[in-house]
Amino acid sequence: MTPEPELSTERSPSSVGSLRRAVHRGLLTHRADLGARLDALAAVAPHDAEVATLRAFGMLFLGRVSLRAPARELAVRSLGGAARRDRLLAQAAIAWADDEPDDALRSLAQAQELDPNDAVATKVEHGLLFVLGRSKELHRCARRAVERRDPEAFGHGALLGCLAFANVETGELEAALRFGAEALEREPEDAWGAHAIAHVFDRVDDPTGGLAHLDRFRSATAGCGVFSRHVEWHRAVFLVELGRFDEALALYDDCLARVWCENYRDASNRASLLWYLEREGVEVDARWTELARVCEPLFSDGGSAFALVHCALASARAGIDPRRWLGTVPTGRGHQARVVEEVGLPVARAMAQSLLDGDSAGAVAIRALRNELPRLGGSRAQRDLFDRVAIDLAFDSGATPFARALIEARLEQRPRNAFARRRKWAPSRRTRP
Ligand SMILES: [Fe+2]
Repeated sequence: MTPEPELSTERSPSSVGSLRRAVHRGLLTHRADLGARLDALAAVAPHDAEVATLRAFGMLFLGRVSLRAPARELAVRSLGGAARRDRLLAQAAIAWADDEPDDALRSLAQAQELDPNDAVATKVEHGLLFVLGRSKELHRCARRAVERRDPEAFGHGALLGCLAFANVETGELEAALRFGAEALEREPEDAWGAHAIAHVFDRVDDPTGGLAHLDRFRSATAGCGVFSRHVEWHRAVFLVELGRFDEALALYDDCLARVWCENYRDASNRASLLWYLEREGVEVDARWTELARVCEPLFSDGGSAFALVHCALASARAGIDPRRWLGTVPTGRGHQARVVEEVGLPVARAMAQSLLDGDSAGAVAIRALRNELPRLGGSRAQRDLFDRVAIDLAFDSGATPFARALIEARLEQRPRNAFARRRKWAPSRRTRP
């Protein structure tokens, strides 16, 4: 990997170019210091259109309604006088801020038509499709980019990592391993590619292999801020599957819960890990209360259905009925507003129904929504939480034949799955209301 340039305040075209390259590399490899890299570029190019637009995308990826207006304003400001490519990226940010992601995707595709080697435009499109949970389009986007671009062009390794991840989501695991290995060979710091391979280990229920893989690529996945914590979530889930609960709980305390920056990805990692541990009989004590407390600013925002369902789970387990605030979540006519209304709110209410009322209808409802769950966004591995929740809540509420049928269906798909094998012989301890 090329060493990062020294941060400089010299206003020469070469320093602008090298600082821009540092920004692009930071974005492609999920570096936590991307903000500092943007600041360094902005210091020598204060009116740079791309800097403003990338900051806008950074806000939009946080999935908050409250950040849409400032993100939109930044992108609008960068429209004037910008080159066509930068205008297309700004238009994409504006459309996303308007909750019209399909328009955003069209602008991002046009940017890649202008320059098939535009790795940044592809990476942003890949990220947006991930947020939208559209696995087939995710695959199409990454494959089209990799096939059309010059393999020697900047960022090719990171885009191979995107293709590896997309292959996991469409179930093509051999291709995922192949592209993931090539990605890491070309770009050893490609955190997304290393993480894609961890997803393969998750899908084939090989937690031992998953832990060894994460150890091997620790340098790629360290230094990525919230994304590092997500990778450590994968490590903790592997540990849970191996029955190494104390180590998983220590990872929760020492890594996942150590930093809180109102990022719903952290909320998601924390909620699902606490659920998995608790259902294996681990006392998680006041951790639910603490999680529900820090999630409070995300509760009423309504900008992300994915955030909503995880916050609802934390709230219910902290003893606060989320149905008290679900009715106040703002709805609207945009894309995410529809997902909140059609998927997020029904899933959140169903979880509360079973968790707090002991009503098996909640577990049945979560299962019935199964084909809609991808609309929440995120990965298959993250959404597996809802399969597990449905099974455990079905057991809790006395719908044992239904729970057993779900276990059998899961084992048919994943015969080595430790969660299902454990439940087959002994349902988990009932969660206290
Ligand atoms: Fe992941």
